[in-house]
Amino acid sequence: MVEKRSFGSFGPEVPLGTGRGQRAAHLYILSNDALTVRLSDLGAAIVGIDAPDGTGELADVVLGFDEAAAYYPDSQGTYFGATVGPSANRVEGATVAIEGATYRLPANEGANNLHTDAVRGLHAQLWHAEADEARDRVTFTLELAPGEPGSDLELPGRRAFSVTYELDGHCLRMTYEAATDAPTFINLTNHSYFNLAGQASGSVAAQELAVFAERFLPIDGASIPTGELRPVAGTPFDFRAPKAIGRDIEAADEQLERGHGYDHCFCIDGYEPDDGTGGLPEPRLAARALDPASGRGMELWTTLPGLQLYTGNFIGGVAGKGGHVYEDRGGFALEPEFYPASPSHPAFPSAIFRPGRPYRAVTEYRFFTAEPVPGA
Ligand code: GLA
Repeated sequence: MVEKRSFGSFGPEVPLGTGRGQRAAHLYILSNDALTVRLSDLGAAIVGIDAPDGTGELADVVLGFDEAAAYYPDSQGTYFGATVGPSANRVEGATVAIEGATYRLPANEGANNLHTDAVRGLHAQLWHAEADEARDRVTFTLELAPGEPGSDLELPGRRAFSVTYELDGHCLRMTYEAATDAPTFINLTNHSYFNLAGQASGSVAAQELAVFAERFLPIDGASIPTGELRPVAGTPFDFRAPKAIGRDIEAADEQLERGHGYDHCFCIDGYEPDDGTGGLPEPRLAARALDPASGRGMELWTTLPGLQLYTGNFIGGVAGKGGHVYEDRGGFALEPEFYPASPSHPAFPSAIFRPGRPYRAVTEYRFFTAEPVPGA
């Protein structure tokens, strides 16, 4: 089932793109026997996911806000649930070279760029929505065009982005596509923060996480990957077997100090580049998370090479849904994406797309339940 509702109006008008000049956002609610998912056309964002625990009890497992006005502008820089792009995560020196030309993004985190632009990025745009009742599916679309003042987000190409959310049993599937008429840089992600005990239940330190990555990307003092792919073995970054998120998070470790906890990209095993010509690529199992106390779990499958784990190191004090004030580590973000700073590391998988190589990615959240372990 797909239901459409008002999500209220928001402060300043969105500055560009499909929704230019508009101030009203909408919720699209997908539901089936297993899951209820609330989506917003503001930021093509996930606003809520109700999923069952081991006894069948539902809880909303993503952090967020009750109304559109709290999402835009995103004054606390949380990017809760949003589709982030066209350049998610960090670009070193805020510059991208494409076929000999240099493009400058805003230097909004020291000398570097984070998440394109806080008030103009794709997460801050009103997308066009198209619901497909028969398939429990909603597609959000948005176009960026060079030439219109400020409308290109500093990158080349007329680009048509689409994000489709679809329910399939216990799975929420997200399909991302972007066509461009000129070579350009595209790195999209979804920035949901999960708390599998329920969004208002405090620290996620006791929740278990497995990340299927032999290697991760160490960062410098400005959170830019150094270019090294470091084996996780013997480090606090070893999540190959499930462990509590908080088990090693306070370990004396230079990388954890630089990130103030986990804020690092893992190199998901088995990545194969997609040349954009065949059928959609097949996602691989990237991570599995479980709240042992409730038995509520989720797997993340993706076609993308990287997965940024961000343990909500700076979200303390943000007032979210139902007035609940989140604490640091009150949620963990799993952001499937191309590696951060790929433009400055030619050995990283390329996020340059062209007319003959459209951007395509599939990410799935597959929810499951387990026997609850009381007191875990
Ligand atoms: C990403 C970054 C974090 C932080 C969040 C947004 O996860 O890696 O450092 O900026 O986005 O708050």
